[in-house]
Amino acid sequence: MATFSTILLLFSLFTLTCAKCHPDDEQALLSFKSVITADPSAMLSSWKAATDCCTWAGISCQAPDNRVNSISLSAQPNSYLSGTIPSSLSKLRFLDGIYLQNTRNISGPFPSVLFHLPNLQYVYIENNKLSGRLPENIGDLSRLYALSLEGNGFSGKIPSSISKLTGLTQLKLGANQFTGTIPDGIRQLKNLTFLALDRNKLTGSIPDFFTSFANLRILTLSYNRFSGNIPASISDLAPLLAYLELGHNSLTGRIPDFVGKFRALDTLDLSWNRFSGTVPTTFGNLTKIFNLDLSHNQLMDPFPVMNVKGIESLDLSYNRFHLKQIPKWVSSSPIIYSLKLAKCGIQMKLDDWNPSETYFYDYIDLSENEITGSPVKLLNRTDYLVGFWGSGNRLKFNLESLKFPATMKTLDLSRNLVYGKVPKAVTGLNSFNVSHNQLCGALPATMFPASSFAGNSCLCGSPLAPCKA
Ligand SMILES: *[C@@H]1O[C@H](CO)[C@@H](O)[C@H](O)[C@H]1NC(C)=O
Ligand SMILES: *[C@@H]1O[C@H](CO)[C@@H](O)[C@H](O)[C@H]1NC(C)=O
Ligand SMILES: *[C@@H]1O[C@H](CO)[C@@H](O)[C@H](O)[C@H]1NC(C)=O
Ligand SMILES: *[C@@H]1O[C@H](CO)[C@@H](O)[C@H](O)[C@H]1NC(C)=O
Ligand SMILES: *[C@@H]1O[C@H](CO)[C@@H](O)[C@H](O)[C@H]1NC(C)=O
Repeated sequence: MATFSTILLLFSLFTLTCAKCHPDDEQALLSFKSVITADPSAMLSSWKAATDCCTWAGISCQAPDNRVNSISLSAQPNSYLSGTIPSSLSKLRFLDGIYLQNTRNISGPFPSVLFHLPNLQYVYIENNKLSGRLPENIGDLSRLYALSLEGNGFSGKIPSSISKLTGLTQLKLGANQFTGTIPDGIRQLKNLTFLALDRNKLTGSIPDFFTSFANLRILTLSYNRFSGNIPASISDLAPLLAYLELGHNSLTGRIPDFVGKFRALDTLDLSWNRFSGTVPTTFGNLTKIFNLDLSHNQLMDPFPVMNVKGIESLDLSYNRFHLKQIPKWVSSSPIIYSLKLAKCGIQMKLDDWNPSETYFYDYIDLSENEITGSPVKLLNRTDYLVGFWGSGNRLKFNLESLKFPATMKTLDLSRNLVYGKVPKAVTGLNSFNVSHNQLCGALPATMFPASSFAGNSCLCGSPLAPCKA
């Protein structure tokens, strides 16, 4: 019994004397706090001198010496931290991870202190306002496992010395202002599982160097200025590749047959490019695909037979397809939330469309097709619909019979044959367009412009001409 209490006493003495953080760590963190000029949500309120810094918000320490090993701060959706990353952080000799995510207003150049932290392995400084060029010697950070500078204002070229960061498993430089081409040296980063260079101003062709990457699962190059074809070596990323995002570039040529080899593909975005020819029949093997966006290309019929059980979002809009029907694999999906088939040559009576599950639908875009009938039955089943676009069809129904889902924000029925009056229920929408239909009568008071109502038989009242008494 006595022995037990002694052990207990010794143990509590031990934790009392040793749990306090190292003075260098405390000083370094307080110097960081001192350059924070605004912290509206009091994220750093627990950072107080002479208290154990290992208990401060966002700080973790590691045995045996109880030294600070990570800083992890992430602001709430409407909050931020203003300030910079000071060189005094170099006192954190045991820091292995720095995570400043969504703090939004941390500014200044690339923090040179990163070169002076000998144990640093994980850098996630995301959605802040760092700017300027990346240092030419960024390759000296060769101990890094992960580098994410996503969502800052970095510009200039990606330095070629990045090829020396061979330990990286994640490289995320998306949503900056990088220019130039993808450095060929990235082929040396053989351990990458995640490569994101999306939302920059990168040019040239996508390098044909993917043979190197045995573990790559996520590749996002969308929203750049890449041209040329999809390189053949991307084929070597099968079967592991799960996300392939190449949308919003100027890519040309055909979609290669090998895309069907990506059995694990979850998301494929090839939208807003200049791909032509047909979609390969090998797409029939993409049974796990949840998100498929081929919109805004020059793709032609026939669209392949798909064998996916649950597509979540599909966009085939604005190609050269003549699908005639909404495909069965779409109508039968139990989890679909977004369906966009604008200008896909669909010829049907909307009342006849009977999707098996409508619970998850947020967005339906069937604009610019040859669709007749009425969306009344459909909108009566889509209780959480946020947007419906049906312009440029031959929909013919009484607008007063339409039930508006409480969640609905956008309704575009322009250029159809809709009749009746404009009901008061439309006032709850953010965006509404019934121009060029056969509506009549006095308009309810709304914020919508005249172009939302133009070209009808006999609508009147603001913003159109006043009704005759
Ligand atoms: C964001 O940081 C800049 C530069 O430190 C500063 O001038 C600006 O006031 C900050 N914005 C807010 C909202 O604190
Ligand atoms: C790449 O990963 C393998 C397996 O995890 C590891 O053995 C190797 O050291 C890593 N390469 C580098 C350069 O870190
Ligand atoms: C799917 O893959 C199998 C095996 O690799 C192949 O034989 C078949 O032709 C593929 N199906 C399609 C539609 O490409
Ligand atoms: C709308 O749905 C309700 C029940 O969910 C049903 O009773 C009603 O007949 C439907 N109305 C139309 C126009 O389909
Ligand atoms: C409504 O649609 C018409 C025709 O499609 C278009 O010209 C007009 O700009 C649209 N107005 C609004 C407010 O969206």
